[in-house]
Amino acid sequence: MGQNMIAETVKWVGGIDGVLEMIDQRRLPTEYVMLKVRSVEQLHEAIRTLAVRGAPAIGVSAAYGPVLALQWLEKPRNMQEAVDHAVKTCDYLATSRPTAVNLFWALDRVRAKTKGVAAEPEATSRRLAEALLAEANAIHAEDVEMCKRIGENGEKFIRDGFGVLTHCNAGALATAGQGTALSVMFEAQKKDRRFEVYADETRPLLQGSRLTAWELQRAGIKVTVICDNMAGFLMKQGKIQAVITGADRIAANGDTANKIGTYSVSVLARHHGIPFYIAAPSSTFDLSLSTGAQIPIEQRDTSEVTWIGSTHVAPDNVGVYNPAFDVTPAQNIAAIITEKGVIESPNPDRIRALLG
Ligand code: MRU
Repeated sequence: MGQNMIAETVKWVGGIDGVLEMIDQRRLPTEYVMLKVRSVEQLHEAIRTLAVRGAPAIGVSAAYGPVLALQWLEKPRNMQEAVDHAVKTCDYLATSRPTAVNLFWALDRVRAKTKGVAAEPEATSRRLAEALLAEANAIHAEDVEMCKRIGENGEKFIRDGFGVLTHCNAGALATAGQGTALSVMFEAQKKDRRFEVYADETRPLLQGSRLTAWELQRAGIKVTVICDNMAGFLMKQGKIQAVITGADRIAANGDTANKIGTYSVSVLARHHGIPFYIAAPSSTFDLSLSTGAQIPIEQRDTSEVTWIGSTHVAPDNVGVYNPAFDVTPAQNIAAIITEKGVIESPNPDRIRALLG
């Protein structure tokens, strides 16, 4: 299964006329189906509806968008048309989801590459497509590497006998590699450490019970699914010694947006004196935002709350609020584990010092 032992979440198959393949995460854990994405519209839909999700995986997938877009240009192609098309594709894909900054980070890289090729005197649309595919492949490969490093930098935080709580899915399914929070667990497992994981089910879309439990089971790590409202009781019972989650966007002061419910877990962890760690690559930091209050929070369809599968679980026309993310304040975070190193008690100076 390539560099990633758990699941190959997104991969490009072929050359510039190739196709983007991804695991359709809407159907896990009951069905393991590969989705073949052949157009930008299909890619936008896949991101919006969470066929592919998780901050790094969204960024990696979107990076391939302009290559798909160039396949659909009518012949004969000219260079300016190709450049405009690639840039417009980036703008369009940037509207798919608002919170995970990895999406905008990856699209900015692709835009910069497009402009670089456009400035070459002998540039052709074929050369542009080849350069954009190479850039997307580089973003993919870098993500694989960053995930591994995050795991290696963080495994020391999981000791023998620990119960580790995680929220949502920050595993292989959320990245091109072996995940962020779950990478820490995979690396601790390689060191033969004995620990068990509690996975919050993560309402409303159940990324914890559907995806995290699936991944950890596949990896042979003991995992127990709990409802989101059980975490505090487990902490009180002494079952949790560390909390590790991923992130969708980290502001310059360390405030961190992650799946809705993460903030509550951080408050509970603080109350019980349990260290709360964020595991995320440098591509998840947004140093243009001074605090987490500036992070845009995605609002999703109310039907995600009022329906579980095909069952209606709330009365018709009831008011529903469905923010997909919340922000954990930096003071609740013991450390942010990145591929470049660990930022203990994160603050603006420490973050800038590590990220440069
Ligand atoms: O809505 P989702 O499933 O995309 O939300 C994902 C998360 O909140 C993850 O914890 C985050 O993206 C980190 S993934 C390494």
